[in-house]
Amino acid sequence: MLTDPYGRVINYLRISLTDRCNLRCVYCMPQGGAKWLPRAQRLSNDEILRVVRSAARLGISKIRLTGGEPLVYPEILSLVREITTTPGITDLSLTTNATLLKNLAEPLVRAGLNRVNISLDTLDPDKFKRITRLGDFSLAWNGILAAEAAGLTPIKLNAVVVNGLNDDELVHLAHLTLEHPWHLRFIELMPIGNTDEWGAELPAEPSRYLSVQQMRTALSALNLQPDVAPAGNGPARTFRIPGARGTVGFISPLGEHFCQTCNRLRLTADGKLRACLFKTGEIDLRSAIRESQPLEPFIQESVLRKPAGHELWLQKMSVDSSRLMSQIGG
Ligand code: 5AD
Ligand code: SF4
Repeated sequence: MLTDPYGRVINYLRISLTDRCNLRCVYCMPQGGAKWLPRAQRLSNDEILRVVRSAARLGISKIRLTGGEPLVYPEILSLVREITTTPGITDLSLTTNATLLKNLAEPLVRAGLNRVNISLDTLDPDKFKRITRLGDFSLAWNGILAAEAAGLTPIKLNAVVVNGLNDDELVHLAHLTLEHPWHLRFIELMPIGNTDEWGAELPAEPSRYLSVQQMRTALSALNLQPDVAPAGNGPARTFRIPGARGTVGFISPLGEHFCQTCNRLRLTADGKLRACLFKTGEIDLRSAIRESQPLEPFIQESVLRKPAGHELWLQKMSVDSSRLMSQIGG
């Protein structure tokens, strides 16, 4: 078992498979696109599997694949198969924009994937295009339905709330849970790699941020009742519209820090272990892999160096990060 100096048990590893994405969401990537990592700097499938096996031997049981967009990773199906058959790994999930899920949902289930988290910030196709710059809403929507039909359940939807962009859709999004047994989570926008100008007709810094408290106020007419969080709902505070089939949750990385219960490590696509989303201080696992060193001591070192928390608040936004979210994996 991995325990950090603050007594937190670390059993969860998030792996960014690639920094690439087929979309360019305004809060995630610069307008001109990101500068992609060259192939030689990215971990190969075998290298990722070495990390998974070492982590599992130390007590990591839960893995999430992220990106960029993990479904643009060419070897996604074989990787899922290998991870789900690794002794010690009991839960594998994936965070996706769903636009490639229509054809991949069933093969992913056959490969052993348990669940997906899907990013969905709007139900308006024009706005979807504005937010994602390249995306087609119907592909994402059909991807969600395909995931549900294939049994990648419970379906969790993540909506990043941006003031002046989708704050007028909170009720509409929450109403999805009346008919569908989906778990919608509203997430505070985080100032990671995206605090530059987003382009014409998009909200400017710092007016983009909306706190969870403000979101709750905007949803007060729905009479949300505290509810039991579905398994693996992580740091979300969970509610239900009376009589609804699904739940509505709130994730507040800035307003209400959940560092005290943080159970995770992150592996970036270029093979760095990162103990906190908001802090630098990465451990170079890629060099260790390529020098054929045992990886366990490096993973243990990252856990030992895990900070107690971060100091980022809605009122005080300066981030210790030169990376984009697509490079860390969210
Ligand atoms: N703030 C909050 N969430 C973000 N995501 C990407 N960038 C940000 C940000 N700046 C979310 C996406 C997706 C996951 C990969 O991370 O919406 O749900
Ligand atoms: Fe791609 Fe997700 Fe970033 Fe959007 S938020 S650009 S879908 S990685």
